[in-house]
Amino acid sequence: MKFKLTAQDKLSKARAGEITTDHGVIQTPIFMPVGTAGTVKAVHQRELKNDIEAQIILGNTYHLYLRPGLETLEKAGGLHKFNGWDKPILTDSGGYQVYSLSQARKIKEEGVTFRSHIDGSKHLFTPEAAMDIQRVIGADIIMAFDECTPYPCDYGYARRSIEMTHRWLKRCCDRFDSTEPKYGYSQTLFPIVQGSVYKDLRERSAEVIASFGREGNAIGGLSVGEPAEEMYAMTEIVCNILPQDKPRYLMGVGTPVNILENIALGIDMFDCVMPTRNARHGLLFTKNGILNMRNEKWKNDFTPIDEDSDLWVDREHTKAYLRHLITSGEMLGAQIASLHNLHFYLWLVNEARQHIINGDFYSWKNAMVTQLAQRL
Ligand code: GUN
Repeated sequence: MKFKLTAQDKLSKARAGEITTDHGVIQTPIFMPVGTAGTVKAVHQRELKNDIEAQIILGNTYHLYLRPGLETLEKAGGLHKFNGWDKPILTDSGGYQVYSLSQARKIKEEGVTFRSHIDGSKHLFTPEAAMDIQRVIGADIIMAFDECTPYPCDYGYARRSIEMTHRWLKRCCDRFDSTEPKYGYSQTLFPIVQGSVYKDLRERSAEVIASFGREGNAIGGLSVGEPAEEMYAMTEIVCNILPQDKPRYLMGVGTPVNILENIALGIDMFDCVMPTRNARHGLLFTKNGILNMRNEKWKNDFTPIDEDSDLWVDREHTKAYLRHLITSGEMLGAQIASLHNLHFYLWLVNEARQHIINGDFYSWKNAMVTQLAQRL
């Protein structure tokens, strides 16, 4: 993997760059659609490529390990072959889903034992297993196995937790560096900064993470219920310590406003279920705020879904039709809304990139944040 910084904003810490992987180039800042189980829910790979112009998608170790399982993934020749997505993929390590989804989990120094949320079967994830599984899945960028602390989290727990996450990182690196990719293209491992909302813990974690000298770095444990101002404060502290010349990935964030504010603090990569999950609940992100498509007021509104958009479904279909699909529980409603929301997120980060390159990011960002906060 290579990372090249192409532009830096003068009034903020925003940057534009380019990540090169064996499956292609990713222009940053970027939003990565979440494809938990080898599919971005309700959106076909062809739409991701042609309509949304996604440059990288996510997969998840926890889900893919449980279903379809490693035997199938390895026989398929890895996730790219299995799902027919030939551009970059990033996999999360399971160090989040294990905490949020599984049952009866026990966290020990060795790793985490848990019961599957699907059939109750018992499993052990260790840092080594997380590396081995992600070798089999074959993502271009893989994530270290960490503990994502909940919010709120007391100081003592958060302090002990980062130390364990750092010890786990050493084990992840040892395993990753002593094994080879399985499918002939290279993989890279990103470590994850933790530390809850404590300034000194975030500083310590960022220093330890930076000292590993990996090709990119991530920030976890945010957007877990803390106020946005605390999230931004943590991002700022960490970005001041992580190296400038490597990509920075803020995990699981967030709203359009969260994304713009974190770009301004020096984040290059984002993922979040929000655009796809909210779409399935009938919420559309637009430049002028959020539209609730379940609202009665759209019942006989025959204007296009989004007149500002250059996405074909936004022009082709009316608000009244989309409201009908969503309120009737029709699958096409989720498909159209997901396509719309992902297109909007990708549009937003691409606009941010263009404004960083043009040198007027800061004023554009402030105007956009005000516009996005409108109540419709
Ligand atoms: N996704 C969102 N937050 C996190 C985190 O802290 N750790 C991991 N592994 N994944 C995440």
